[in-house]
Amino acid sequence: MEKKNIDWGSLGFAYTETDYRYSSLYKDGKWDEGGLITEPSVTMSECAGVLQYSQSCFEGLKAYTTEDGHIVTFRPDLNDARMHETCERLEIPTLPEGRFIEAVEEVVKANEAWVPPFGSGATLYIRPFIYANGPVIGVAPATEYEFRVIVMPVGPYFKGGVKPLTLRVSDFDRAAPRGTGHVKAGLNYAMSLHAIMDAHRKGFDENVYLDPASRTKIEETGGANIIFVTKDGTLVTPRSDSILKSVTRRSICYVAEHILGMKVEHREVYLDEVADFAEMGLCGTAAVISPVGKVVDHGKEICLPSGMTDMGPVTKKLYETLTGIQMGRLPAPEGWIHVIK
Ligand code: PLP
Ligand code: COI
Repeated sequence: MEKKNIDWGSLGFAYTETDYRYSSLYKDGKWDEGGLITEPSVTMSECAGVLQYSQSCFEGLKAYTTEDGHIVTFRPDLNDARMHETCERLEIPTLPEGRFIEAVEEVVKANEAWVPPFGSGATLYIRPFIYANGPVIGVAPATEYEFRVIVMPVGPYFKGGVKPLTLRVSDFDRAAPRGTGHVKAGLNYAMSLHAIMDAHRKGFDENVYLDPASRTKIEETGGANIIFVTKDGTLVTPRSDSILKSVTRRSICYVAEHILGMKVEHREVYLDEVADFAEMGLCGTAAVISPVGKVVDHGKEICLPSGMTDMGPVTKKLYETLTGIQMGRLPAPEGWIHVIK
């Protein structure tokens, strides 16, 4: 298989139109058989549910080339389960059993020429999504949908790779208590765009959102969960019903406890506590593990002792272990690596 002529090492996190995508349509109360297509554009009703009322959801996972030349994905069953949960929350019809993983496998295999080689620093980002393409005008779920899976080679999510980030405490809220923050609804991201652009205009890399009820507890950022390391080496991750159940965060907690022998706490974390931690990072499929060097709370700088030049030592160990497992350099816990080819 001849790979595309791409400078893999200089890729950022951006859309590339690859050769194949998977599409399945929902109509008359059922999903059709689905299959690969080459057409990258979509045509839909001008009154589509996604256009009028943002009825859409998505997932994000990656395919990796391992050292011995296999193409694998990481825990796709968890993305499948989360998409099911998101669909139920948004009144989108759930996919038939097995369809999600089958679609991911087909589209990755068909785009093998776009899967970055082992050691290139890039990975293949897989974006499954479902949107309402059928017309609605009264506020109601649509009766027609498309499930599509697209893939593209990507590099680091944050410019500068693993350089520690500066976050600001956002005055905007991301998710209401009992709202949709715990699912991967497109609308969660639409409403975060102004906050992100405002943060960027003011020189920050991302927002830290607080719990909207008391505005005292750390939730997550617009596209990643948060991890902390205490000065005595305990991994702490914020607990909240309104943050996304990150596959990466759950995997890091397992790695920390069962592989690295660390103490792990999943609990409420107060903004006031941030100054006491030794290290902080963002975690997610796109973000992998990105170190945070500084959090700015309305002009007050909270500087993590790990500093602004490198990842802290514990974050680095977690990063190396997690990516080692994902790329097949280290043994994986049972069921984590899904071989595609
Ligand atoms: N939190 C939000 C809001 C996200 O969009 C993502 C990205 O998927 C994550 C966390 C990280 O989740 P995961 O590790 O499953 O990619
Ligand atoms: C992912 O990490 O897969 C996401 O969906 C986050 C997104 C903000 C790029």
